[in-house]
Amino acid sequence: MKIKQLVTLAVVALTLFSVQAFESNDDLKARIQPVGSVHIAGAAAAGAAASGPRSGEDIYKGACAACHTSGVLGAPKTQNAGDWGPRLAEKGKKGVWRNAIKGINAMPPMGACGNCSEDDIMAAIDFMTEGVE
Ligand code: HEC
Repeated sequence: MKIKQLVTLAVVALTLFSVQAFESNDDLKARIQPVGSVHIAGAAAAGAAASGPRSGEDIYKGACAACHTSGVLGAPKTQNAGDWGPRLAEKGKKGVWRNAIKGINAMPPMGACGNCSEDDIMAAIDFMTEGVE
């Protein structure tokens, strides 16, 4: 009887101890987490800052090349005078820029670039029309 009680006590004590150990482990994780994510966010921001502003070519490669390299859906091909000349003559650089921002026919607004500013769009157009104007 006494031994059984002791064993029961020991089991209960062990169980409590391990549950506690578990909880404090979770606690620790919870306390570490915010510090970890702040650190990661900081690193990402530092990375972005270190890479500096993107060039028109970078923006073009990331957001516009898929259509404008091969001329998919009638997209004016990059640095192709025959494709760009008439558009620039008719609308000017500002005109095609405005159309790129708001979208035109199969050309999605902003070239569907989620992280491009209007200046980025102009930089990409500068690259696409290099040597054409
Ligand atoms: C999904 C394919 C697609 C992507 C991606 C795309 N374009 Fe286009 N773009 C087109 C097509 C198609 C046209 C021709 C539209 C027309 O005039 O019918 C076009 C036309 C244009 C024009 C000429 C507009 C005019 O008024 O003549 C500009 C400028 C332009 N795109 C800029 C961009 C830039 C900058 C990017 C990247 C940020 C981009 N495009 C990404 C398909 C695309």
